[in-house]
Amino acid sequence: MKAKRRAMTAGLGPSPRRTPTVRKLRSAIVPATSRPAPIRTNAGPAVARAEPGPNERAAVDLAVDLGRGLVLPNPILVASGTFGYGIEYGEVVDVDRLGGICCKGTTLRPRVGNPTPRVTETPGGMLNSIGLQNPGVDAVVEKYAGTWAGWKVPVIVNVAGESVGDYVEVVKRLDGVPGIAGIELNISCPNVGRGGLQFAIDADAAAGVTAAVRRATDLPLLVKLSPNVADVRPIARAIADAGADALTAINTLSGIAIGPGRERPLLGNVYGGLSGPAIKPVALRIVYEVSQVVDIPVIAIGGVTELADVLDFLAAGAVAVQVGTAIFADPTLPVRLVDELAGACRQRGLPSYRALIGTALPKRASAPSSKGVEYRP
Ligand SMILES: Cc1cc2nc3c(=O)[nH]c(=O)nc-3n(C[C@H](O)[C@H](O)[C@H](O)COP(=O)(O)O)c2cc1C
Repeated sequence: MKAKRRAMTAGLGPSPRRTPTVRKLRSAIVPATSRPAPIRTNAGPAVARAEPGPNERAAVDLAVDLGRGLVLPNPILVASGTFGYGIEYGEVVDVDRLGGICCKGTTLRPRVGNPTPRVTETPGGMLNSIGLQNPGVDAVVEKYAGTWAGWKVPVIVNVAGESVGDYVEVVKRLDGVPGIAGIELNISCPNVGRGGLQFAIDADAAAGVTAAVRRATDLPLLVKLSPNVADVRPIARAIADAGADALTAINTLSGIAIGPGRERPLLGNVYGGLSGPAIKPVALRIVYEVSQVVDIPVIAIGGVTELADVLDFLAAGAVAVQVGTAIFADPTLPVRLVDELAGACRQRGLPSYRALIGTALPKRASAPSSKGVEYRP
């Protein structure tokens, strides 16, 4: 697998140590002049490129190469848990204009989810504790994969589990199914075999589940980082070394709300995940940090509501962004952002959005802080 990974990253140049630079991050995107004709779509492993889309007509190259043959038509995706399985939005949104769809978290067996209430608003965001309600992997494949296979937009299945075995079994059942373009591992889940410690907060556990899934599938593998750690960088590096093709950052921040009467916490599960504009500075900080210590692409998530957010995340080193909570207010936002990003490039005279990536990163990577979080009051 190591050899395979080396072969995959060969185009990024030799990197015995992880010493990524802006140049490397940019080169993780397919150069405009050398974009390969065959791309992975939902219909199968490699087919010829279809008719030019609206963005190509606009002559701005928005394509993103996430590795292992997964080339997104543009860098605007929808985040897991906020766009269902895509099918629900078919009437409102032209899903084929999106860069990618990360579907709702999928587990081995069906899950009914957490007790209610499951959602509450907060200043600048929302708290949710849905509890991964989903029909289970077999039903997801049976109900949705057929429709996905007819779409141009790559569908990435978000996978959750309670043990390494769970993750591996889910991924095995997704492997080779037409309509599934990639896997996003939600590792912000308790590892039941290790006293409920979340995979995402421990570098060894995060690397262990990534490596096991990597062995189980050749599908493009994205792994989603949790912000609920003191220093995400060693975890990100461990996941990259374990064979992930890309990182997505961030999942929600752990929080609680207090119920009416102040007698108990409001959410049925006590804890919820904070999302929305309130978490954008945290997501930006994590993308900024992680982009400097791995040489695989980083996809940003957290509080995107407008083009300025997209541009900020690109400047911090992300090659793409996912839109989450903002979809509840406006499901048409992600497609509009695709057009607005192309427009912003045209305005700046850029033939590709690549020049926008990593502009705010330090010119030379700084030594990691022994304290972890780079906050100095
Ligand atoms: C209602 C809801 C459900 C979510 N479900 C999942 C999930 O199943 N798997 C996952 O990895 N992330 C899930 N997330 C996290 C989002 O994908 C995203 O990482 C987070 O909300 C931050 O982005 P945002 O601020 O744009 O919403 C969920 C978020 C919300 C709001």
